[in-house]
Amino acid sequence: MARAFQNYIAGAWTNAANGKTFENRNPANWNEVLGTFPNSDKADVSRAVEAASAVFNEWRLTPAPKRGDILKRVGDLMTQHKESIAREMTREMGKVLVETRGDVQEGIDTAYYAASEGRRLFGHTAPSELRNKFNMSIQVPIGVAGVITPWNFPMAIPTWKIFPALVCGNAIVFKPATDTPATGTRLVELLVEAGLPAGVINLVHGGGTGVGMPLVEHPKVRAISFTGSTQVGKTISAAATNTLKRVSLELGGKNAQIVMADADVDLAMEGVLWGAFGTTGQRCTATSRLILHEKIHDSFLSALIKRAEKLRLGDGLEANTEIGPLVNQSQVDTVESYVKIGKDEGAKLETGGERYTEGACKNGFFYRPTIFSGVKPDMRIAKEEIFGPVLSVIKIKSLDEAIAVLNDTRYGLSSSIYTRDVNAAFRAIRDIEAGITYINGPTIGAEAHMPFGGVKETGNGHREGGWQVYEFFTETKTVYVDYSGRLQRAQIDNQ
Ligand code: UN1
Repeated sequence: MARAFQNYIAGAWTNAANGKTFENRNPANWNEVLGTFPNSDKADVSRAVEAASAVFNEWRLTPAPKRGDILKRVGDLMTQHKESIAREMTREMGKVLVETRGDVQEGIDTAYYAASEGRRLFGHTAPSELRNKFNMSIQVPIGVAGVITPWNFPMAIPTWKIFPALVCGNAIVFKPATDTPATGTRLVELLVEAGLPAGVINLVHGGGTGVGMPLVEHPKVRAISFTGSTQVGKTISAAATNTLKRVSLELGGKNAQIVMADADVDLAMEGVLWGAFGTTGQRCTATSRLILHEKIHDSFLSALIKRAEKLRLGDGLEANTEIGPLVNQSQVDTVESYVKIGKDEGAKLETGGERYTEGACKNGFFYRPTIFSGVKPDMRIAKEEIFGPVLSVIKIKSLDEAIAVLNDTRYGLSSSIYTRDVNAAFRAIRDIEAGITYINGPTIGAEAHMPFGGVKETGNGHREGGWQVYEFFTETKTVYVDYSGRLQRAQIDNQ
């Protein structure tokens, strides 16, 4: 019997009020049911928000270093259970074990950063324009925060949001993706085990309509942090306007790697193989366009096709697997539809372009690494996010053209250029429109303590990771202390 998972509200494990459930299955073997989960709705969201609201004051008054101590324990627990969390995650969403271990590691790094941030949360002091007066700004918690996360980094991304939010003193309602509810549950179990007081984290399973939107629309939720598609991000942003809540959005990408003629081509080859086909192309940061200088285009492309065809597909739990399955049927449908679009647009399908059904893989959502050449910048496969192992190769003649092609998209998350020319590298840093630019590295692999996010329709200007996410999860309060003992009017009131 598959385990019956529950919501976690006000410190108690509970079913959805409506009694409904949904199943979670293994994308490498769809016959394997991993568990059933509450298919919650607005009533559960309301209870969770009320629970978070009720404890917010006490949590807000808990000293930040003490809040940080809990995150330290969570980091220790994640370290201790890293292997079992990674295995569960591979079964739940398919990516290979080295990558699910990496996903947990990103959570551990985020936990320790958050723990130490409890001893910083710096404000500013500034001189006053008057005598005997002291000016400062301090960072204070916002209140109840709603956290809505995707399935592709089911541990790391929730930790990017939840850990900073907690250290800053907010209470949380967390809705993990319906494709990865078990990993989401594991994270909450670890927070509880580490000593987080009841009500400070609440977990509500379910879909976007039943749980996500009621959370976004709830007037007592003062901040929403969401990672997912641009389309859903826009809906969230519009819905949140009514209550003027703060919203952080990490959305789509159409990331490109440029390879110039003077590049270390072997290095660039390793980079694109990892960037395009790692995590089966299902990273927001995945390389989905390869922009090749004409001088190296043909030789690079033929070597790349050979390497891509050698990548081993299979169950991510098996040691020699390099590429796991897509996460679900709907992702397969999306990839298949874009392969058809690419062919219809006149791009040349060089390899892949079909499902992989050898042996046991027939029961899963495996898709061969796919490469299109002859892609023109205005084709849909050059512009739209696919979120699968599909790479569009575009030929260019110069650095200016490469950067113009790279920028010719509505997204702007990650980007990369391989060149040995320091001048070209600095021009790329200056002119590429993206939140992240790698020089001689692939588009994936952001570090947990650096700001993460993108420009244009990749987001709404906020950043996760590093120091910046702590600004998102706090309000700035400006404080004036007048110790003159008399009414001092501000300079503007004294003219
Ligand atoms: C994502 O795909 O949403 O930069 C996150 C990377 C990872 C995070 C990816 N550290 O590839």
